[in-house]
Amino acid sequence: MRHLMSPLDFSVEELDTLLTLAQDIEANPAKYAHACAGKKMATLFYEPSTRTRLSHEAAMLNLGGSIMGFSSADSSSAAKGESVSDTIRTISCYADICAMRHPKEGAPMVACQHSRIPVINAGDGGHQHPTQTLTDLLTIRNLKGRLDHMTIGLCGDLKFGRTVHSLIHALVRYPGIQFILISPEELRLPDYMRQDVLDKLQIPYKEVVRLEDAMPDLDILYMTRVQKERFFNEEDYVRMKDFYILDRKKMKLAPETMYVLHPLPRVNEIAVEVDSDPRAAYFRQVQYGVYVRMALILTLLEIHVD
Ligand code: NCD
Repeated sequence: MRHLMSPLDFSVEELDTLLTLAQDIEANPAKYAHACAGKKMATLFYEPSTRTRLSHEAAMLNLGGSIMGFSSADSSSAAKGESVSDTIRTISCYADICAMRHPKEGAPMVACQHSRIPVINAGDGGHQHPTQTLTDLLTIRNLKGRLDHMTIGLCGDLKFGRTVHSLIHALVRYPGIQFILISPEELRLPDYMRQDVLDKLQIPYKEVVRLEDAMPDLDILYMTRVQKERFFNEEDYVRMKDFYILDRKKMKLAPETMYVLHPLPRVNEIAVEVDSDPRAAYFRQVQYGVYVRMALILTLLEIHVD
């Protein structure tokens, strides 16, 4: 039985197959409309979410399956002190597959060790968010036609942003990838990512503070929100929260062929005026998130549609 804890759980070839399946789902949705008839997905969300929970649910519904779940720890037995391992043993009796989001790093990993059904990590603390990465890869592949030979700018909260950590893990496996890491000093990419991933694999990167300095060189600009809930004190958050605001003026510095991605939710880091720029791809990215999760559910449940 397979789970998805990290984007590295799939080889580059398997990812390619999965993204191609997602593209076929986009082109031929009717073909897949009953593929999961009789199957149930549980969404176990111990942390707030809009897109990740509802896109897993939409994906299962689009496949003809059913959904159940909880959307906050308060409304589950976690509030009574139940452990993740007991909860997952229980859910294994009800559902065929589950997606779990948890504020503690590693909680979905604990779950998969006690689970009889495939577990999808839907975000664990500041650690990983592999289904967002699948979404990001499908978006980049569809927009640029490739996942290799690109300069990717990652901007904002690179310290706590789990989507950034998962995306780096996935992209370093493609040839010719380089990064521009754009963050304030306090929110730099952690050492364990810089040294153990980028330096170790000799991936070219540079770190800059000003977004303007990076814009002209980018193929993709990946904006992120300052992760308020991971800060130890409010003062630091308030100081950091408006550090970057991408606006029309800054977009003028970027190539015509650059695309802006954002895992969302957006707070202030992209001005609403940028939404009408054809290079703003973050709402298209949301739609790709449904197709790729449909492909993921089929893959983990080993359902093949001819
Ligand atoms: C991200 C997350 O939860 O890490 N959101 C998402 O799932 N699309 C990004 C964020 O919350 O900033």
